Amino acid sequence: MNVKILNGPNLALLGRRETEIYGRRSLDEIMETVRADAAALGINVECFQSDEEGVLVGEIGRSADRFDALVINPAAYTHTSIALRDAIRGCGLPCVEVHLSNIHARESFRRESVTAPVCIGQIAGFGEDVYRLALEALRRTVRQDKEAAS
Ligand code: DQA
Repeated sequence: MNVKILNGPNLALLGRRETEIYGRRSLDEIMETVRADAAALGINVECFQSDEEGVLVGEIGRSADRFDALVINPAAYTHTSIALRDAIRGCGLPCVEVHLSNIHARESFRRESVTAPVCIGQIAGFGEDVYRLALEALRRTVRQDKEAAS
């Protein structure tokens, strides 16, 4: 199973940015752990980060033929981006939305996700473990879908 992991704006600043909320590990360190967790689950992952909405939209579109599923932390675009929502729905891949922090326990503007409704689920609030939890959920879901189709 091949999974594309997408990270949105300001996540390249992890480790330096609001460390009381997001922790002290950099995105590279977190993605290194995610690669190891994925390998243990028998999943190949490709990790990508961009601060730019259009770049993320393009990357999602190009993923449709190459991956079985997506994991996305859309960061601030979670709360604003219809373009990302349309890209996720349009690519047709199962997608899990993740957030390091519990967005439902923060400012009111973070409680709404415009992207979660086109995902199969959202995992928020468990720090970097959210990526591994998303991969576990996807492995089970994609396997069940394949079994149902055969
Ligand atoms: C975040 C939550 C978003 O509200 C915020 O804009 C981020 C990070 C998280 O992982 O907790 O940049 O997606």
